[in-house]
Amino acid sequence: MLFFMHFLKRRKLMFYRIKQFTLALTAKINKEDQAFINQYLDREEQKLFALLKVYEQKHAIRVAQGMATSFECDKEEMIRLGLLHDIGKIQEPLSIIEKSIMVLLHHLTRGNIKKLQSFKMIRGYYNHPQYGYELLKKKGGYAPSFLENIRDHHLAKGGSKCFSLLQEWDDKA
Ligand SMILES: [Fe+2]
Repeated sequence: MLFFMHFLKRRKLMFYRIKQFTLALTAKINKEDQAFINQYLDREEQKLFALLKVYEQKHAIRVAQGMATSFECDKEEMIRLGLLHDIGKIQEPLSIIEKSIMVLLHHLTRGNIKKLQSFKMIRGYYNHPQYGYELLKKKGGYAPSFLENIRDHHLAKGGSKCFSLLQEWDDKA
């Protein structure tokens, strides 16, 4: 039973990855997206956000808007978390193709490829949560829990309801 549940979860994740790839190919920031970004991020954050690849910006917007549909967490905080969760990707950006290669390699090696840290592509893929944490910590003005949610967003760990919400929408949006 447990194996079957695991199998279903993996299939669902693969479906989300394929959907994310097709969405990434045509990603474009429109007026509504820009207004949304400007409404929730300060000037400095907007500049950082603009440095993300367009497909990553679009993903962050979808995550933020998905999280905002929950009534259990503070709406503004959830939107800001969704928008900024991948901000560390500005440090070692990956093209759509590189990202797709990394998703495949990650699954095929069950994460063991992470050890090869001399490759920029591998560092960018695995270390962006830590980069984002450090970047925003240096900027200052964030609650420790906000920064920790960014740092830990790819870790399999239990956490608050709002942290789980980020992981859920990061997977499916
Ligand atoms: Fe991420």
